[in-house]
Amino acid sequence: MRVIVVGATGTIGRAVVELLAGRHEVVTVGHSSGDFQLDIASKSSIEAFYEAVGPFDAVVSAAGVARFGALRDLTDQDYALGLANKLMGQVNLVRVGLDYVKDQGSFTLTSGVLSREPMRGSAAISMVNAGLEGFVRAAALEMPRGVRINVVSPIFATETMRIMGMDTAGGMPAARFAPSYQESVEGRRSGQVLDVREFAPAP
Ligand SMILES: NC(=O)c1ccc[n+]([C@@H]2O[C@H](COP(=O)([O-])OP(=O)(O)OC[C@H]3O[C@@H](n4cnc5c(N)ncnc54)[C@H](OP(=O)(O)O)[C@@H]3O)[C@@H](O)[C@H]2O)c1
Repeated sequence: MRVIVVGATGTIGRAVVELLAGRHEVVTVGHSSGDFQLDIASKSSIEAFYEAVGPFDAVVSAAGVARFGALRDLTDQDYALGLANKLMGQVNLVRVGLDYVKDQGSFTLTSGVLSREPMRGSAAISMVNAGLEGFVRAAALEMPRGVRINVVSPIFATETMRIMGMDTAGGMPAARFAPSYQESVEGRRSGQVLDVREFAPAP
């Protein structure tokens, strides 16, 4: 398969590319890195990307920014960032990509555990993650031509927790998230939220 990975240079994207590259032709995409560049927050940038990239079987998105912040501190701009970038950015990868993806192709988006297991400071991120999961469940009902769509829900990556100065006890190396993405790309499921803990190989 020809598989596009958006966010390919990120903590999670790198692990996904490493797993899929031996099995498929992988096209790496980033904001300022990769084989192609795009800005998921700009629909015209997504349109230009799909025009340029050529035929493909699958899109994996491991990109998207949303802000942490205390409920009383989160600003309109903080909410707007998550909505335009992590939520609508990934939704638009699907909306625009539907005109280009091959029959029986697939889309795999990324949400996060905070939709269902929130923590203090996660209101904006939990909202965006839940929005992505609702979108995927509903959009799957209307996918044309046998196209599938799923969303992977990662827990915190230990790499990210280290950068944020968090205790890494509850995290998992990003490499262990990659089988969830592989299952979404290569399996038959659609309309599902894949919790990385269910697909992670034993440590
Ligand atoms: N890491 C975690 O612990 C964790 C846990 C749960 C959920 N998630 C979610 O997983 C996704 C990936 O997280 P991550 O930690 O792997 O991210 P990351 O390390 O910050 O990497 C982000 C990737 O996305 C690309 N990117 C950034 N802004 C972009 C834009 N506007 N348009 C297109 N590409 C863009 C970057 O490209 P450049 O390098 O070229 O800028 C990079 O490849 C995010 O949605 C995040 O919320 C992460």
